[in-house]
Amino acid sequence: MLEIDLASKQHDESRQGEALILENKSTLPNQRKLYIESYGCAMNFSDSEIVASILSEQGFSTTDSYEEADVIFINTCSIRENAETRVRNRLKQFRAIKRENKNLVIGVLGCMAERLKAKFLEEEKLVDVVVGPDAYRDLPNLIAQVNDGHKAINVLLSREETYADLSPIRLNSNGISAYISIMRGCDNMCSFCVVPFTRGRERSRDPFSIIREAEELRDAGYKEVTLLGQNVDSYKWVPHPQSFSEGEGSAGELGESENKSAHVVLEGEAEKENNSDKKSAHNASLSFGEGRGEASLNFANLLEMVAAVSPDMRVRFSTSHPKDITNEVLETIAKHHNICNYIHLPVQSGSSRVLELMNRTYTREWYLDRIKAIREIIPTCTISSDIITGFCSETEEEHQETLSLMELVKFEFAYMYSYSERPGTPAAKKFADDVPEDVKQRRLEEIIELQQKNSRLRAQDRLGKVEQVLVEGLSKKSKTDYCGRSDHNHMVIFPVTEGVKPGDYVNVLIEKTTTATLIGRVV
Ligand code: SAH
Ligand code: SF4
Ligand code: F3S
Repeated sequence: MLEIDLASKQHDESRQGEALILENKSTLPNQRKLYIESYGCAMNFSDSEIVASILSEQGFSTTDSYEEADVIFINTCSIRENAETRVRNRLKQFRAIKRENKNLVIGVLGCMAERLKAKFLEEEKLVDVVVGPDAYRDLPNLIAQVNDGHKAINVLLSREETYADLSPIRLNSNGISAYISIMRGCDNMCSFCVVPFTRGRERSRDPFSIIREAEELRDAGYKEVTLLGQNVDSYKWVPHPQSFSEGEGSAGELGESENKSAHVVLEGEAEKENNSDKKSAHNASLSFGEGRGEASLNFANLLEMVAAVSPDMRVRFSTSHPKDITNEVLETIAKHHNICNYIHLPVQSGSSRVLELMNRTYTREWYLDRIKAIREIIPTCTISSDIITGFCSETEEEHQETLSLMELVKFEFAYMYSYSERPGTPAAKKFADDVPEDVKQRRLEEIIELQQKNSRLRAQDRLGKVEQVLVEGLSKKSKTDYCGRSDHNHMVIFPVTEGVKPGDYVNVLIEKTTTATLIGRVV
């Protein structure tokens, strides 16, 4: 089993643009081997599991050693310039091995592939295949083209693709936590952001395949699922006639339903459903939205359904958008003990004028009001955020507004960046990237310093308290300690204790803290 602290590592990865290498599984001697490296956000890591699934159908097994691979894929990120630089540098390291193995296929997947398209093939001669995030089903065909001596590219974006019917291969898994992708793309057009261009239009995955995946994970012993989307609060699924006539995957299952409607597993009903057939809540054929004058499923409904899959399986989600997070979502979190009391709510800036330039469509006051609602409805909730400093025309006063907002909210954690202009984005077209680099850096340092102080204070709030921790495995720093996450998403370290094993929930009394870690013992 690969030792990865999934929740933190992958979150960190997305933020730092570092790579995670998918771990080797058992391989048969004559199977072709795939090596895949992922950069960027959790969506990319989740997509790599889809890619591995698609290629496993073609007889590929994965390897953790690129020297022995027949195919090397890099699943790339474009969010900031340095994320792309890292990929370019990594590609250079593959040159020597390509020289030795002429049959080796090197592919670039993901957001950078989508952004640069055929240019990638021109600029990086060793690359054979360029594939955008919505074209992974075409990979076997594209690899065949390369084997026939051609370069291959598919960067078509789709309005429908959600890979709903595929079972991801959990290659980078600790067997305890897993991602479930619930939607793809983004329609928000924040002016600084490249994602709407690299991932296309927002679309929600059908709830039946989501629940089925959660049930499969439960049955395989997983204890935590994280629902993924760029803006989970705008999850919306509307059953439409095609959903019931398509012949494959979950749509096929839906075809069993006579009344062309679906069932939301709500409180009470969930119990009935579970008793009658624990594993097939998704096959039920009751209608949802009835009586509410609408026939759609929102994020709060979905959360509730996933929480009902098992009281023993934690549910997390990422990312929420301040303009869309509703009280209904907050009340749903408060109502279910297994939905973690942790919300990542990126603010980006504390200045309403800058937020408007960013096209975030909320003000400082709106954001603070959402924080107030979280604290009222889920008093124990921890909150983290993303902050961009040095956005176009940001003044010193506006930077101070970001600091003052941070002081008001005192986020538990934050991911902080200086603005990196991305070609083709609305901000790149409309505004000058005019905050000098040294000013951006100084502001970023001030923001980081304040956040470290606040993280330390927030961690100290936990001293003397008992946290419920899901044990993930041995701590990376010490073989005599276990590590795991609290409900509030703090990393907790405690001595290996008899009778406790990875995958267990334990109560840990917090006796010491660092900036971001809690240290204690099982009680
Ligand atoms: N969908 C998520 C964010 C995905 S990108 C959301 O809306 O919150 C993760 C973070 O990267 C963003 O929240 C933002 O803080 C940062 N980011 C995005 N584009 C950036 C850019 N051009 N320069 C610097 N940071 C950026
Ligand atoms: Fe980018 Fe904004 Fe969409 Fe997040 S919500 S992915 S920041 S456009
Ligand atoms: Fe990067 Fe694409 Fe995610 S740009 S942050 S990998 S959606």
